[in-house]
Amino acid sequence: MSTVVILDFGAQYSQLIARRVREARVYSELLPFDAPWEEIAKRQPAAIILSGGPESTLAVDALECDPRVYTAGIPLLGICYGMQLIAKHLGGSLVPLEHSEFGPARLTLEYADAPLFLGVPRESRVWMSHGDSVTIVPPGFRALAHTARCAVAAIGDDARRTYGVQFHPEVVHTEAGSAILENFLHTLAGIAPTWRMDSWVDSAIATIREQVGDANVLCALSGGVDSAVAATLVSRAIGKQLTCIYVDTGLMRKDESAGVVAAFRNVLHLNVIHVDASARFLARLAGIEDPEEKRIRIGHEFISVFEEEAKKIAGVRFLVQGTLYPDVIESKTPGSKAGHKIKSHHNVGGLPEHMELGLVEPLRALFKDEVREVGRVLGLPSAVVERQPFPGPGLAVRIIGEVTPERLALVRAADAIVTAEIDAAAAELSPRPWQYFAVLTPVKSVGVMGDGRTYGNLVGVRAITSEDGMTADWARLPHDLLARISTRIVNEVPGINRVAYDITSKPPATVEWE
Ligand code: XMP
Repeated sequence: MSTVVILDFGAQYSQLIARRVREARVYSELLPFDAPWEEIAKRQPAAIILSGGPESTLAVDALECDPRVYTAGIPLLGICYGMQLIAKHLGGSLVPLEHSEFGPARLTLEYADAPLFLGVPRESRVWMSHGDSVTIVPPGFRALAHTARCAVAAIGDDARRTYGVQFHPEVVHTEAGSAILENFLHTLAGIAPTWRMDSWVDSAIATIREQVGDANVLCALSGGVDSAVAATLVSRAIGKQLTCIYVDTGLMRKDESAGVVAAFRNVLHLNVIHVDASARFLARLAGIEDPEEKRIRIGHEFISVFEEEAKKIAGVRFLVQGTLYPDVIESKTPGSKAGHKIKSHHNVGGLPEHMELGLVEPLRALFKDEVREVGRVLGLPSAVVERQPFPGPGLAVRIIGEVTPERLALVRAADAIVTAEIDAAAAELSPRPWQYFAVLTPVKSVGVMGDGRTYGNLVGVRAITSEDGMTADWARLPHDLLARISTRIVNEVPGINRVAYDITSKPPATVEWE
């Protein structure tokens, strides 16, 4: 499998480069900009891409990669900061621009036949974001394109197969961006577009077998797509050496735990221990209103239950975690060479550290939608693959104030109505909401039902559109649909007499109310 290594100099678009390369059916991995040459060479890269970065290559403490990158004879593409590094290290010149150039620009090609720009119109729109500019190209290079404000917007040396573009081919605003990346990957670096998820699955299974040997392995299933896909992959690799533990916190949505466990056992044939710990979790949450305290208590209880179960299984040396690529973030403090920080995974399936187990993290290199694709390749049911994100601490974050069995029953019933109505209308909703749920508030208000006065709870309904949960907008649901949801909740859930729809985006609000 040919791999492209992308060195990440901290641009906001680095992850997008990795995506675009994989969309061109070439496997790619992002490494920190200062990865030692040995780390890079270990992957036997068929090409290297240098990302953009927020810094100037002219700064005294400019971020640099291992200089062997420039001389290894491996096809090289520098994007923005990456192009400037290539110019700087191979003998070109750069100057700071009087005014930085941000946003759209017209790119004009100098040569119709430059291989990097095959099939690209002589003029096209590109996306720029830079404060310095190459003025003299390094010996052996040609200036391949310009914009009105940037005399050297692309450089190339076909003999050395080394290229640079000042603009960002990875963003959608660059019209010919995919064509330029494909020219580099397929034509210039000679990498065939053969990478597919099923070949990735085969090699992931082989890697797991090698890592684990004959040890026993544990996995905490949460019901979410990441742990389900990770567990299935590991189970394909090592079969019955894997034991999955499903800790039922009692904080799941209506009918969820039974469905999840049945799917794992009967469809995926995983070896699953179902621990009903709902009474323990409820006891730990009694009287607690503070959201952070609830999260902490749930996290601790989860680890206790998990450890108690784990102790019953002999010969365990590894723990499977469904860590994804976006969970692994590099510390990008400008100018500092700080090591990588792993974002604290706010899932209840966190590792009990003193258990001293090795980690099996087969999804570390994947994005969420790629995990879903792996799930499909592995034959996971669509209810698992398409499942909405659901917080580890479950409905506890959707009950404002104390979690009690009665309040859980209220939010669960309201939530089931929100889900059922939006699911039923999904075909007419464009874009489809990404996540939707009910929230129980402690607000009480006066109402009238039949001939009587009521004094009941307010339920909030949240439906958002989003790509990844990092930013979100409230879904413009049809009024008729909102009316059905409201009528059903008030009629069918005793104790709730008022429904409010949340019309706040993220930011400034978060997705969950907590
Ligand atoms: P917020 O509320 O932070 O949520 O805007 C962003 C996304 O993350 C989900 N979420 C969680 N997911 N463990 C998870 O795996 C958690 O503890 C957790 N808390 C929030 C939330 O549902 C939304 O999709």
